[in-house]
Amino acid sequence: MTSSLRPVAVTGTGKYVPEKVLTNADLQRMVETSDEWITERTGIKERRIAGENEATSDLATKAGRDALDNAGVKAEDLDLIIVATVTPDMAFPATACFVQKALGAPKATCFDVSAACSGFLYGMEIARQFIATGAAQNALVIGADKLSAIIDWTDRNTCVLFGDGAGAAVLQPAKDGRGEILSSHSGSNGNLDEILNVPGGGSRLPLTAENIGSKINTMKMSGREVYRHAVTTMMAATKEAIALAGLTPDDIECFIPHQANLRIIETIADKLHVPMERFFVNLQSYGNTSAAAVAIALDEAQRTGRIKSGDHLLMVVFGGGLTWASSVVRW
Ligand code: ACO
Repeated sequence: MTSSLRPVAVTGTGKYVPEKVLTNADLQRMVETSDEWITERTGIKERRIAGENEATSDLATKAGRDALDNAGVKAEDLDLIIVATVTPDMAFPATACFVQKALGAPKATCFDVSAACSGFLYGMEIARQFIATGAAQNALVIGADKLSAIIDWTDRNTCVLFGDGAGAAVLQPAKDGRGEILSSHSGSNGNLDEILNVPGGGSRLPLTAENIGSKINTMKMSGREVYRHAVTTMMAATKEAIALAGLTPDDIECFIPHQANLRIIETIADKLHVPMERFFVNLQSYGNTSAAAVAIALDEAQRTGRIKSGDHLLMVVFGGGLTWASSVVRW
């Protein structure tokens, strides 16, 4: 971050999760698994699943509206809408354009960011730079995914891990230091594309009548490999953002990590010598909601009073690509 640019703050947050709850007991009836296995290996108890007629932009719009209300900002005053997603409504237009239409935000520039589970923090950093340079005043950043649309519901290795949802934040020039983004860091490693991806349905391997049965348009994951990289990259990214903010882990009142697996979070807490009480965890209720996960967690941490004015919070994410990002915010 360049200090000569104007400071930027998160001035409101929001979320939306679909009504339908899918429990571990429900999954037990769908694949060979058990509540005990899922709970022990991941910490997840249930997740939300969007309705058939509910697209990613529908989830994103509801979360976006919630964040605008929370910030006291009108949709017509937005000049930037970024939606982070790997499950866009369509190849194009961007999901952000559908959100623009639904919210009524005619002045906004709208586009999507594809960085899997890291997308929300990538989007926040892009918005921060638009605002820091004066190119935008009021930005809405949404992390939204309907992963249920790209899950192979017969694959127990993946289907128990994920859920649908959306989280959002409004970013504006910082006025009194509240909500100020103190640091941000990000990175990618395209060499590890094969450990987590959706191989088909794009230009490399379009869906055809011949290959449609082979489920190439669903998520493939080498769980153990992803786990190993998740721990090392989230650890490094956490330390980087905290150091960039001129702080130490002791200064962080609330850690908001990507909500993929409780064991990943516990390992990071242990390695950082930070008690688990300082980590915000809601994956038991939603599973891994990809780009939405950290955004939903931020909103819940804010609304439940888990983060208070003046607290330092650290967000850190990790996802397919591989991609990762982290940010420190003073609430
Ligand atoms: N129920 C019961 N058994 C299962 C299930 C299940 N749902 N899934 C796998 N198993 C079995 C496996 O077949 C294997 O059996 P085997 O030993 O007979 O072969 C056994 O359980 C152990 O499997 P592992 O994969 O070694 O289990 P592990 O302890 O590594 O846990 C898990 C698997 C939960 C997937 C873990 O590796 C993990 O969380 N990885 C990270 C995943 C992640 O975070 N992905 C998202 C990244 S973010 C993004 O961009 C989407």
